[in-house]
Amino acid sequence: MRNFVVAIDGPSGTGKSTTARILADKLKVLYIDSGAMYRAITYLVLKKKINPTDSSKIIELTKSADLKLEGENVYINGEDVTKQIRSLEVTNRVSAISKIREVREILVSKQREFANSQSVIMDGRDIGTVVFPNADFKFYFTCDIKTRAARRQQDFRDHGLKIPLDKIKLELKKRDDIDANRKESPLRKAKESIEVDTTNMIIEEQVDCLYKKIISQLDN
Ligand code: DC
Repeated sequence: MRNFVVAIDGPSGTGKSTTARILADKLKVLYIDSGAMYRAITYLVLKKKINPTDSSKIIELTKSADLKLEGENVYINGEDVTKQIRSLEVTNRVSAISKIREVREILVSKQREFANSQSVIMDGRDIGTVVFPNADFKFYFTCDIKTRAARRQQDFRDHGLKIPLDKIKLELKKRDDIDANRKESPLRKAKESIEVDTTNMIIEEQVDCLYKKIISQLDN
């Protein structure tokens, strides 16, 4: 099979990451959670108590950070931060950090390196528009806010956190707003991407939908 790139974009809580991870497993290709990279930098900013408005310190930190994604695990400067990057603190701060142009440039170049010599499935906000504008397959996930909030709540529960639905909904809306209206690489549907509304879909259906589209084209 030839090398290919699958880009999956959309707001948080639409099921991108879970779908992408299972799909990559099924297709035996690399999965990259680009959001985890922004989260890891945010974790480091918080850990080092850097003022979130101090862009130049944050850029320096990003430049020097040793960021590794290994399977489901995320490491920054040798520390396993897989769990920590899902905390509420990181979740609420990550959009502000990912607005910084230079931070994006550094992480985007890392993201492109992953696809240098292998097939990759990557999910995020700008994968089909900026990171891989020539991706072989582009999908854009949508889902209604109630379902997204409920899914996020379950994610938090899985990580041992009990958070009220209203609070999650509010944070999701806030994050959507920053992600979609920022100057640098805002969340947009690439015009050639296939829209997948996951509101009434279960994970297996989402995986199957993408898998069929990819396989049918790769076979041609
Ligand atoms: O997918 P996620 O919720 O883990 O992403 C966390 C944040 O990272 C999201 O609010 C916006 C940012 N992000 C981004 O700006 N670009 C990406 N390609 C992926 C994530």
